[in-house]
Amino acid sequence: MTAKRSQTDLVERQFGAQAAAYVASPVHASGPDLDWLAAVVAPLAPRVALDLGAGGGHVSYALAPHAGRVIACDLSPRMLAAVAETAAARGLANVETRACDVAALPFADAAADFAASRYSAHHWGDLPGALRECRRVLAPGATAVIMDAVSPGRPLPDSWLQALELLRDPSHVRDYGCDEWAALLEGAGFALRRVERFRLRLDFASWIARIGTPPVQAEAILALQRQAPAEVAAHFDFAADGSFTLDTACFEAVAA
Ligand SMILES: C[S@@+](CC[C@H](N)C(=O)[O-])C[C@H]1O[C@@H](n2cnc3c(N)ncnc32)[C@H](O)[C@@H]1O
Repeated sequence: MTAKRSQTDLVERQFGAQAAAYVASPVHASGPDLDWLAAVVAPLAPRVALDLGAGGGHVSYALAPHAGRVIACDLSPRMLAAVAETAAARGLANVETRACDVAALPFADAAADFAASRYSAHHWGDLPGALRECRRVLAPGATAVIMDAVSPGRPLPDSWLQALELLRDPSHVRDYGCDEWAALLEGAGFALRRVERFRLRLDFASWIARIGTPPVQAEAILALQRQAPAEVAAHFDFAADGSFTLDTACFEAVAA
């Protein structure tokens, strides 16, 4: 048996080595959800905007034209080095980086007036705690936009989704359902204002390459997909090469 790692160690191991892949990833670099985010933030023109779990920095780059300062926060110093380099190359002088865990944000109460997070919360070991931290560092009335893969909500496809995600990436915690998200946000002191849902087609080869899934686990994902009941196969639209379609959602919430 190998030594046990913490959830934080697992995340850094999974993502640190893949920084360049996440900057370049077309799934992350564009999408209707980023356009939706830009439309939300533009009229708000925040003074200080946080990008929680910044990864390759695509939320930070989308926020930068509309905010005074953008602070890209991530556990992985290697991800943040890639964000700093990319922001400089794009001339985005208002993007800063801060290595931290979202469950312990290094900011004073009410220090920021906007926060966003995309495709990161399903890795957070303590999601309720992280959302409370997000609420603490936001001024009352500030907007938070959380975007992530979501569970279809029904137990059967939910179990299949979490199994595929965990085989791909052992730092996966959970793709929460929209009802769970609503309760989590309200429990952390946010009023949910709007939910926008999307469907995202994932190319299997690049999905596993991006996170470095070992071949034995990639084979297990394909083997599972081949055994999926009709309802599950139809929901995720599994292709012979393993590509499939994921549900995603953007939650716009206001710090109460
Ligand atoms: C898929 S990437 C994020 C993609 C990015 N937000 C985008 O829109 O392109 C997930 C990121 O979440 C970060 N992360 C996971 N758990 C975290 C935590 N507890 N605190 C801070 N960052 C975390 C990982 O290090 C990784 O860089």
